[in-house]
Amino acid sequence: VLRRWTDADVDVLDAAVRENLEHLRPYLAWVAAEPLGLAGRRAVVAAWHEAWLRGGDGAYGMFEPERSGDRPLGGCGLHARVGPGGREIGYWVDHRSLGRGLARRAAAALTAAAFALDDVDHVEIHHDLTNVWSRRVPEALGFAHVSQTVLDRALAPAETGIELIWRTTRAERR
Ligand SMILES: CC(C)(COP(=O)(O)OP(=O)(O)OC[C@H]1O[C@@H](n2cnc3c(N)ncnc32)[C@H](O)[C@@H]1OP(=O)(O)O)[C@@H](O)C(=O)NCCC(=O)NCCS
Repeated sequence: VLRRWTDADVDVLDAAVRENLEHLRPYLAWVAAEPLGLAGRRAVVAAWHEAWLRGGDGAYGMFEPERSGDRPLGGCGLHARVGPGGREIGYWVDHRSLGRGLARRAAAALTAAAFALDDVDHVEIHHDLTNVWSRRVPEALGFAHVSQTVLDRALAPAETGIELIWRTTRAERR
C-alpha cells in the first residue's frame, strides 16, 4: 500500500528510520539530522501535511498491511523543487526489504500520480553517480538520462557530488 504518512504513523515511522540510519546515511542528506525523536518526527509529519494541503510536496509511505496495522517498508516523495511543470521523485526502502521492486513500483505509482496533476509536464529522478541501486529505478521505468551535473559539494557521506538526472515527459507517457 502506498499512501501519505499521517499522525497515526509517527511511532512506526520513527522506529523505521531509526532501524535504517546506517543503511540510509550514505545517500540521504536528511539523515545527518537524525535521530529526530518522536516530537521532531511528529513536527515533520505535520509539516508534510501542511505542504500537501498547500499543493506542494507529497510524502508517502510504502506499507505492508498487517492485522496489527500498516508496517512501513519505506518512504517516497513527490517534490515540487525542479522548476515549473516538474516534480522530482525520491525514495528509500527498509534494509530488510531491498530488491523486491518496492522503489521501482512506488516510483511508477508516483509518476502516474504526478501526471494526474494538470500542471505537471515532466517528472525527474536524481541520484549520485555511485548510487547504482537508485539508478536502476529510472532506467527500469524508461526515464531518459538527461544530464550529469557536478554539484558544489556532496550532500551525503557516500556521494561524489556528481548528480545524474533522469526525466520522463507527459508526452512520452501517453
Ligand atoms: C535505492 C533503493 C531505494 C532501492 O530500493 P529497492 O526497493 O531495493 O529497489 P528495487 O527493488 O526497485 O530495485 C532497484 C534495483 O536495485 C537492485 N538492488 C536493490 N538493492 C540492492 C542491493 N543491496 N544490492 C544489489 N542490488 C540491489 C535491484 O535488484 C534492482 O536492480 P534490477 O532492476 O537490476 O533487478 C534502496 O537501495 C535504498 O533505500 N537505498 C538507500 C537510500 C537511497 O539511496 N535512496 C535514493 C537516493 S537517490
